[in-house]
Amino acid sequence: MDANIRNVFVGRSLCVIDDLSIAERTYLFSKVKELKTAIENGDQTAMDRFRINDKDFGIYEVFLEDSTRTRESFRNAANFHHAKVSELSADSSSFNKGESFADTFNTLAGYSNTIFIIRSKVEGVCRWLEDEGSAFAQRNRLWRKPAFINAGDGKHEHPTQELLDEFTFLEDNGWSTDNLHIALVGDLFHGRTVHSKADGLKLFKHVKVDLIAPTELAMPDSYVEKMRENGFSLRMFSSIDEYVGQEDIARKWYFTRPQLERMGDRILQRQGELRSAITFRKDFIDRMPEGTKFYHPLPRHKEHPTIPTFLDDTSFNGWERQSINGMYVRIVLLSLIGGKIGDEFVPPATMETGDANDEEYIISVPVSGDAAKAVKNYSEGVHPIRDGIVIDHICRGDSPSEIRNHMRLISSVLNLDEAKGGEWVSTGKTPGSFKGIIFRPGARELTRKELKRLAAVAPGCTLNIIKDGKVAAKYRTHMPPRIYNFDDLSCTNEACISHPSQSEGVPALFYRTADNRFACAYCGKSHSFKEIWKSKN
Ligand code: CP
Repeated sequence: MDANIRNVFVGRSLCVIDDLSIAERTYLFSKVKELKTAIENGDQTAMDRFRINDKDFGIYEVFLEDSTRTRESFRNAANFHHAKVSELSADSSSFNKGESFADTFNTLAGYSNTIFIIRSKVEGVCRWLEDEGSAFAQRNRLWRKPAFINAGDGKHEHPTQELLDEFTFLEDNGWSTDNLHIALVGDLFHGRTVHSKADGLKLFKHVKVDLIAPTELAMPDSYVEKMRENGFSLRMFSSIDEYVGQEDIARKWYFTRPQLERMGDRILQRQGELRSAITFRKDFIDRMPEGTKFYHPLPRHKEHPTIPTFLDDTSFNGWERQSINGMYVRIVLLSLIGGKIGDEFVPPATMETGDANDEEYIISVPVSGDAAKAVKNYSEGVHPIRDGIVIDHICRGDSPSEIRNHMRLISSVLNLDEAKGGEWVSTGKTPGSFKGIIFRPGARELTRKELKRLAAVAPGCTLNIIKDGKVAAKYRTHMPPRIYNFDDLSCTNEACISHPSQSEGVPALFYRTADNRFACAYCGKSHSFKEIWKSKN
């Protein structure tokens, strides 16, 4: 290997499918194809090229939710590598004494373990451990930094399932990534395997997705939005009956199980009716285009399978090969992270776009020549303000009551509650529209941190600095590309590792999305700028 080329896969974590680029996934799939052929032909020499073959290389499985396929295919994959394979017995571990995820995994990393495979109902665990594990490894001068593989976290993502699904679609697409038309059927609300598809299917150039689910099990808006942003063409149907009643039927159907364990009582009471909307029936067969294949991450329910067992011995059956592919994909993933293969992969050159996190979110606006006139709009009771700050254009277009509520939040977030001044709702430029204005007389500079908080809690407003009765400076706020390091931020998803109810001590961190919302860095939940503040929740 050229000494200048570094193996980009070594020590990598896989928390969400997008942690591997399209080019990296394409390379991984080429290796899976090679390995699968080697195993099917019993070619030991070719298989050995994938083996980590180090009995001191620790691969640890920690399954805090039930699993057969993911746990056992990873265990078999790890054994293929002739590595040290361990499993934490969660029932008798110190989790039950209130130990945190960080302390537990740091302890295990200290015992010469390198790759952790984690399934948990707590969302975003691997992303948190990735940071914590690196810091622990550095503090303790560990030889290898631990890597974390998400084996399914709550309703969030299941990236290794996504890899094996994509590999199976490629097999059935003759390895072409040009087009994919797929129907996603079932519990799209709770199903993490279909949530991973919102980014996963970017592997294909032209993607058409048909979402088939009754309203109660519909794909969450944030994933629908992400699919649209990724350029997928989308259609929605409330049942298979409705879907097969039209002409444009996909040749690939991906079923997901109704996740009863994650449903509330209200939905559970209607499970029979919901299930029938997403269960395939014999009388649909004649409507299926030639070459249709069904897939399923499995397990199927033994009493109520949404793919009935009469289809097992038919050409529709793509799910058995899909499940078998799971072990091949996971062998290759471990091989890459363990550094056994991947040296020859050269990432495609990318355009240097600069660090979006440094992007300015407070933009200075020129003050008009007649600044003194402008200040007359902002009064301290009956007098115009001489010195102070005025935050204008708050929540333009919202209703007066929404604007008032949000101004209370802004005042609290900026620590302005104890200062004199006031808030009012005024009419906007267009008839019938409103905006909010907060004014605080008295000289006061906002710090850089306060400006960032203002931009995050009131994007699109203007901040006027009044001095000697004139507008001395004027700024327009934009949503910051990321927001963190503030104690009063919180993700609203109770299942997220960063939610205060999890007591894991994980500080909230949000990234701005393409549709100007804040996505939690751990669980991905999308929030409006009004929702991320604790005092709001
Ligand atoms: N597909 C899948 O994740 O199955 P298990 O729950 O059995 O691991």
